[in-house]
Amino acid sequence: MMRAVLTVPPLWRSIQRASFCRTAMRLEGGVSMVQGSSRGIGLEFVRQLLEEKEKGQVVATCRDPNGATGLLELKKKHNERLDVLRLDVTDESTIQASANSIAERYGSLNLLINASGVLSLPDILQPETTLRKVEKSSLMFAYEVNAAGPILVIKHMWPLLKVGGSTGSERNFAVVANLSARVGSIGDNGLGGWHSYRASKTALNQLTKTISVEFARRKDPIVCILLHPGTVDTDLSKPFQRNVLESKLFTREFSVQKLLGIIESAKISDNGKFFAWDGQQIPW
Ligand SMILES: NC(=O)c1ccc[n+]([C@@H]2O[C@H](COP(=O)([O-])OP(=O)(O)OC[C@H]3O[C@@H](n4cnc5c(N)ncnc54)[C@H](OP(=O)(O)O)[C@@H]3O)[C@@H](O)[C@H]2O)c1
Repeated sequence: MMRAVLTVPPLWRSIQRASFCRTAMRLEGGVSMVQGSSRGIGLEFVRQLLEEKEKGQVVATCRDPNGATGLLELKKKHNERLDVLRLDVTDESTIQASANSIAERYGSLNLLINASGVLSLPDILQPETTLRKVEKSSLMFAYEVNAAGPILVIKHMWPLLKVGGSTGSERNFAVVANLSARVGSIGDNGLGGWHSYRASKTALNQLTKTISVEFARRKDPIVCILLHPGTVDTDLSKPFQRNVLESKLFTREFSVQKLLGIIESAKISDNGKFFAWDGQQIPW
């Protein structure tokens, strides 16, 4: 089988070298899926998987493919390597339909990134500043989108998650990366507030950890990790950026470069771990 030769841009190379000293694992080919990729961090993952790598297929999923202008732009440039599918994490039939499409088209998936998430939504989810503002509907909504959603995506993609893949990859295990948040850490919670979002990410962490234990017992190795991207300049963080130091507000490009570095250098022993953008482990 021909091995893909990757021309790595200097910035990408230096980030890989400087940040992590784990066993290198390169995403030269294979099939990667980015769930929640209409905008923000998810869209940037799709862009970097297409534009920083020479090979590999990318499946980008979002709720409204026709309205996802960033993905449509990328599709124009990378028609052969990019598939855009409709997936809403609150509608399991769309998750199943995406799994069926991927099975039909590629037969396997080597990397799954769950990037969807919601912190605030007018009249539905307010980031609470006090217990007095906590509503059952907000708690449930955040749980449905941020915790249950990504887990159902893994459930349906699981039969497809395999080493290698039709386009060839050097990895000897599949990777699942769930975008969590440091505020989901109970040990790190010194500020309080954001009850619904915080608790939904804590639930995502526990569910991911539980899945990682099950994956570790299976014959086909799958490494399942949780990632905190830092505070990143996206729609999600916009309303809360006022008190963030400029040096602590990351661009999407920077954060995703770091996160892809963690994914690429992941080891079997990283299964079930929760990493910040800089590769440091975050306490539960
Ligand atoms: N930005 C930060 O500072 C920060 C910090 C810590 C953690 N995170 C986490 O990083 C991830 C990405 O955040 P972001 O900053 O990129 O947010 P964003 O710009 O607001 O994007 C959120 C994405 O989630 C999608 N989404 C929302 N509800 C969905 C659903 N029901 N089904 C499928 N997709 C859905 C959105 O799609 P639509 O366009 O259809 O709404 C959008 O693509 C999230 O999990 C977030 O919690 C972000």
